[in-house]
Amino acid sequence: MTAITIDEKKCLQDGICAAECPGRLLQVETGKSCPSPTPDFEAYCLQCGHCVAVCPTGALSLEGLKPDDCRPMGPDLRVTPEQAEQFLTGRRSIRTYKQKTVAKPILEKLLDIAGAAPSAKNQQPWHWMVVQDPQEVHRLAGMVIDWMRGLIEAKPDMAVERGFTRVVSAWDNGEERICRGAPHIIIAHGDKDWGFGAEDCTLAISLLDLYATSLGLGCCWGGYFYSAINFHRPLFEDLGLPDHHKAYGAVMVGYPKFRYRRIPLRNPPRVSWK
Ligand SMILES: Cc1cc2nc3c(=O)[nH]c(=O)nc-3n(C[C@H](O)[C@H](O)[C@H](O)COP(=O)(O)O)c2cc1C
Repeated sequence: MTAITIDEKKCLQDGICAAECPGRLLQVETGKSCPSPTPDFEAYCLQCGHCVAVCPTGALSLEGLKPDDCRPMGPDLRVTPEQAEQFLTGRRSIRTYKQKTVAKPILEKLLDIAGAAPSAKNQQPWHWMVVQDPQEVHRLAGMVIDWMRGLIEAKPDMAVERGFTRVVSAWDNGEERICRGAPHIIIAHGDKDWGFGAEDCTLAISLLDLYATSLGLGCCWGGYFYSAINFHRPLFEDLGLPDHHKAYGAVMVGYPKFRYRRIPLRNPPRVSWK
């Protein structure tokens, strides 16, 4: 049984699906035949859906993905370059949050959008853990502080260099700098042996962050937080992550308390042209 179906009445025999297939797994004689799968189609198809998404007439279906299952592409929703520039350069890491939780359907939508990120071999390797309860976020931040205290004892030079002493003394003075008082933290985790887990999860978190910004939410990477998950077993176990997983990233989510008025300068590109 082949994994593609062609509606021959709709197919224009234009070869676009074959040209866009990442593995070149469709064969078409342009203008003469509809696409058919190569013999190694099933072995190498990434299920990326490009063939279905690019067909002008919706003639091609994959097993489990019909044209009507796809979200429509609305040209009227295209952002202008000016909008894109301000949006992308105006995103900030948010470190002061309102004491207001984000509704679960919105958190679900963030994950839905994150899932549109590119991933090596279209593996979509991310699993998510969403900490919904602000008190739980605070408790878990306390476990990160426990990890830092241990390192301050065991490797004082490294702890100072990584800023742990400052973060712990802030905690002791009642200021939480791990999750910055955000009401939620979202952890991306996945198989620890997948070679592209870091890249894939980072990209997914980036989409989540950008989409959250479009909703008036704010995010900030929790570098201390996900490092602690991977290096402090009690936290890993407390979260109940599967044994063969690791945390590839974590991001705070909430409503920003303040509005940014300016976009700070960044380094000019370090680039060589050949
Ligand atoms: C991998 C990674 C880890 C980070 N960890 C933290 C963190 O633990 N705490 C924090 O306040 N910011 C953290 N950040 C945010 C960076 O400090 C921030 O992106 C940088 O200062 C630039 O600011 P901007 O994101 O507002 O442009 C992290 C960012 C990345 C990419």
